[in-house]
Amino acid sequence: MKDDIVIEQYHLFFVLIFILNDKVRVILKDFQLFLSMKISLIVAKSRNNAIGRNNQLLWHLPKDLKHFKKLTSGHHIIMGRKTYESIGRPLPNRVSIVITRNLEYQLEGCLVVNSPQEALQIAKQNTENELFIIGGEEIYRILLPHTHRLYITEVHTEIDGDAFFPQLSDDWREIKRQAHLADEKHHFDFDFVVYEKFTSLS
Ligand SMILES: NC(=O)c1ccc[n+]([C@@H]2O[C@H](COP(=O)([O-])OP(=O)(O)OC[C@H]3O[C@@H](n4cnc5c(N)ncnc54)[C@H](OP(=O)(O)O)[C@@H]3O)[C@@H](O)[C@H]2O)c1
Repeated sequence: MKDDIVIEQYHLFFVLIFILNDKVRVILKDFQLFLSMKISLIVAKSRNNAIGRNNQLLWHLPKDLKHFKKLTSGHHIIMGRKTYESIGRPLPNRVSIVITRNLEYQLEGCLVVNSPQEALQIAKQNTENELFIIGGEEIYRILLPHTHRLYITEVHTEIDGDAFFPQLSDDWREIKRQAHLADEKHHFDFDFVVYEKFTSLS
């Protein structure tokens, strides 16, 4: 009788280990997935952090548009509904995720979601390796704390705007800078700059 109880307890113990192992494996897989997706943000901003006015960009910089296309092609891009409407169409060769609070909003060729968290989740589920947050101000402010890398085009001018990029904290370290001078197609000097989040572990 006593032996039976001991055997039963052993049996339960191994079943428990098996179940926990399975759970631990699932948690580790989720964590790995989370770690393997880099969240990047891309923006062009002036010295005074202006990024837009009347739902439009503040400049026409063909080299910057090319840079944006090269970096984001083949990836998921996340944007607010206003930025989507200022672009006016889904960008080719990218999965566009548009965030709105409007539950009825629908767009052909885009995924529409009702929260920034849902947008991140979809990219993660689709095993994206580098997701790009492409604006505008509201979405940058919400998702900057979740971002690992920033691609900032620093445009060397002070300019009026009604949409602004948030001030960067000391957590960010510049890792690359490429300078471009103004010419007949580019009214301002600008730099392509890459920042990565600095943590005490990095
Ligand atoms: N220079 C650059 O690199 C750059 C890049 C992108 C955009 N821009 C500029 O930025 C400006 C637009 O920025 P913005 O701040 O006005 O608009 P936005 O961030 O593009 O979009 C704001 C909209 O996103 C939705 N939204 C925001 N937070 C949400 C939440 N927590 N849950 C669900 N939906 C949410 C709401 O849509 P609903 O109102 O539909 O609910 C909100 O009105 C424009 O001037 C544009 O040209 C500049």
